[in-house]
Amino acid sequence: MINKKSSCSKCLYRNQSTITATTVLHQFSESLGTAIDAKDPFTSLHSEEVAEIAHSIALSMGIGPGEADLIHIAGHLHDIGKIGVPDTVLKKSGPLNETEWQFIKKHPDTGANILRPVVSLLENGIVDMVRHHHERYDGKGYPCGLKGEAIPLGARIIALADSLSAILQNRPYRPARNFDDAMAEIVNCTGRQFDPDVVTAFMDISEKIRSILKFIGPGQDRVA
Ligand SMILES: [Fe+2]
Ligand SMILES: [Fe+2]
Repeated sequence: MINKKSSCSKCLYRNQSTITATTVLHQFSESLGTAIDAKDPFTSLHSEEVAEIAHSIALSMGIGPGEADLIHIAGHLHDIGKIGVPDTVLKKSGPLNETEWQFIKKHPDTGANILRPVVSLLENGIVDMVRHHHERYDGKGYPCGLKGEAIPLGARIIALADSLSAILQNRPYRPARNFDDAMAEIVNCTGRQFDPDVVTAFMDISEKIRSILKFIGPGQDRVA
């Protein structure tokens, strides 16, 4: 028996005491998510935050623990395709030109292509969650323009978690905003960017998520 705590410094996902296939997948996913976050000081802990927020929302929606674990793993991996985006684009402080924007729009497909050889990620829907995390509920997202429930549920959950974490972090082109402002923005985008049921589940546990974010990134006033 190996205690999973020993390999998981920040992650709250510590409910397994023995190594299973899912545990190993989770550990690799956390490692890869940390690697992509390390490319950019602005995105420190972003994948960790997305994984935790998405997991909590999934459970709040009544999704079973096994499926919620898969959504958590997809949260760690959601931006792995940014390995294919030049740093000059990721770290640009001004508006992106069309060529640069095309690099950004490719990262969900790049991520899916990176992960697809791992059969369990493919068969458990994680590749699809990663591929579709920038779809919008109104069909105006990318890469496929999927709409509503055609978007995998895990991807709809990760989309909200991704936006919440991003709003709370500084970016080269704008400062971080606080948790209350982020909640208001998410509610304002209900039915357009976000699945209304996911927004409701998020609002039901907003204080829990605020606490989780304080645990992951202590000392930050953004979640006060
Ligand atoms: Fe994790
Ligand atoms: Fe992304």
